[in-house]
Amino acid sequence: MTSLTVHHRRGSYPVRFASLKEALESLPESAFLFTDRNVLRAWAKALPRSLHRMVFNPGEESKSLAQFEAGLRWLSAAGADRASTAIALGGGVVGDLAGFVAACFMRGVPYVQIPTSLLAQVDSSVGGKVGVDLPEGKNMAGAFHPPTEVWICLETLTTLPERQFANGMAEVWKCGFILDAELASRLERVVLTPQSDDLADVVRRCIELKTAVVEADEEDRTGARAILNFGHTVGHAIEQHSGYKLLHGEAISVGMVAEAELGERLGITEKGTSGRIRTDLASAGLPTTYAKIQSPALLELMQRDKKAERGEMAFSLITRVGECKLVRAVPRMEVEAALSAL
Ligand SMILES: NC(=O)c1ccc[n+]([C@@H]2O[C@H](COP(=O)([O-])OP(=O)(O)OC[C@H]3O[C@@H](n4cnc5c(N)ncnc54)[C@H](O)[C@@H]3O)[C@@H](O)[C@H]2O)c1
Ligand SMILES: [Zn+2]
Repeated sequence: MTSLTVHHRRGSYPVRFASLKEALESLPESAFLFTDRNVLRAWAKALPRSLHRMVFNPGEESKSLAQFEAGLRWLSAAGADRASTAIALGGGVVGDLAGFVAACFMRGVPYVQIPTSLLAQVDSSVGGKVGVDLPEGKNMAGAFHPPTEVWICLETLTTLPERQFANGMAEVWKCGFILDAELASRLERVVLTPQSDDLADVVRRCIELKTAVVEADEEDRTGARAILNFGHTVGHAIEQHSGYKLLHGEAISVGMVAEAELGERLGITEKGTSGRIRTDLASAGLPTTYAKIQSPALLELMQRDKKAERGEMAFSLITRVGECKLVRAVPRMEVEAALSAL
């Protein structure tokens, strides 16, 4: 079994690569499992029958205050106490929601992440951000509550729908584009699938890269963590504008092409990078343009991005593949021009 360690203000936690069987056999005694219906359908047979479980409806709609309350009240009714541990078995929705329930139940109980989507394995399960959405916006209520353990059980990805796997691949490519040129080249050489021999190595590398960034800026305050937002200023706007019909990874895929184009226009990104990124993402089955890319509403949404200050847009831009930096006060005209080039 291989493992990595993530350090945070109050300690550290291991990220272990193991089978789901091993992960479930290692759970603490008083464990309360949160999952969703899809994951339960696929993996019910692996779960010990005696394990207390709460099953959410799949999808972002469950990341709500109502389900947060339901989770807290279920823990209470099922007999959990301060010595209990919450287990999140599922994608990023279950992880964020169960993690937030754990952060608040009796002022905080430990929780273990067993991410079952590629996106959750490479991104949301590490870093300690937990929370729910409000009608006013995504992730508007939340906390920093690091897990006590993360288990990466790659076999869980074999039941993940293909579109969801590609969705996670967008974040994998992003890691290469912003932080690791060798990873980007490797992804260009092999087509990753849930069965690939290379998958373990690639997932591990993405977690290592994210870990280094979040350890340097645990609470997202210094701007260091904001570099992970490459493709996300445009991507979040597209995601919202599409009414969440596009998945997060699909929207940031278009966002990465647009922001590489923007970087080239600003003379920050090496020429030819946006073309390379477009080819890479298309080969992974991800979209590289959006039908309503020229809608003025997209720019309005971007100006409300969390990195924007007084309406001035900020972007994490690649300098060349494998390197990036945060660029503030990007002129609106340049953004419009980059979008129209898509
Ligand atoms: N906390 C963070 O740092 C962080 C970072 C990135 C994203 N997120 C959050 O993560 C969420 C997105 O995560 P996601 O893409 O995993 O979405 P998700 O949890 O909705 O999972 C995607 C779909 O795949 C299904 N699924 C998951 N694992 C499966 C499996 N092994 N077999 C079959 N079906 C499976 C789910 O039921 C769901 O329908 C968003 O809410 C986002 O805000 C959080
Ligand atoms: Zn993302």
